[in-house]
Amino acid sequence: MTDLYAVFGNPIAHSKSPYIHTAFASETGEDLRYEARLAPLDGFSKAARQFFAIGGKGCNITVPFKEEAFSLADELTPRARKAGAVNTLKAEAGRLLGDNTDGAGLLADIEQNLAFPVAGRRVLLLGAGGAARGALPALLARQPLCLVIANRGASRAVSLAEMFQGVKGMGFADLGGSFDLIINATSASLAGEALPLPTGIFAPGSLAYDMMYGDTPFLAQARAAGAGMRAHGLGMLIEQAAEAFFFWRGKRPRTDLLRQKMLLENQV
Ligand code: ATR
Repeated sequence: MTDLYAVFGNPIAHSKSPYIHTAFASETGEDLRYEARLAPLDGFSKAARQFFAIGGKGCNITVPFKEEAFSLADELTPRARKAGAVNTLKAEAGRLLGDNTDGAGLLADIEQNLAFPVAGRRVLLLGAGGAARGALPALLARQPLCLVIANRGASRAVSLAEMFQGVKGMGFADLGGSFDLIINATSASLAGEALPLPTGIFAPGSLAYDMMYGDTPFLAQARAAGAGMRAHGLGMLIEQAAEAFFFWRGKRPRTDLLRQKMLLENQV
């Protein structure tokens, strides 16, 4: 029988996850169906429980339900516990296992696809919400020279930074010096807004990375400020999906061909 998987979010209509997981299934020969499901803003847990009650094997969780999914899980992987958010659930022997593949997806894209090692670099993470939390443990594990979190609301950056050793938190206006890797984990690009960043933060040869995909205002800003390399989040989206697929099926799909195909098909 075909196994059922889904992604829950709100909104969800434009999610590329069904396309990506359907491609992974056909490449690896796995018999599964993957659907996008809209959950009401106050009804994620109920919708997810119903999904697993009818035999769903696993699901992804996107904005704004990752923290609720964290609470719903019966067991957590260490990286999900550290991130405080779950983007992947798996049903196993009547229990729900929660994982967070966002950080691994981000690092796979930056270090493998873009050939930009994080160790010894000055890293600036913009944003202090769920996306930033998911990225933090994976970034720290690579031992950057320093890691600064900057957010529109400075106090949120300061509280997030306090949860991790050696990380500094501040508002955008307090930023000084320059960085080698600048990651936009805010949702400002969704609203088409640029961030009020000091121009000097982009070191020559730096990589500016936007977790959102497409030609975002942040990347235009980075180009104007002299960031040598710029990348958007399609690679991360595909890599986090591949990690989730491995968590569910124990098989690692290829990601390079799919990324090329989606870029050629103008899916971003
Ligand atoms: P997510 O799970 O996508 O991280 P979130 O937890 O709601 O969503 O966090 C959104 C992040 O984007 C926050 O860091 C938010 O900044 P505030 O904490 O100051 O609200 C940031 N953000 C959203 N819109 C923004 C904008 N227009 N300019 C700057 N930061 C913005």
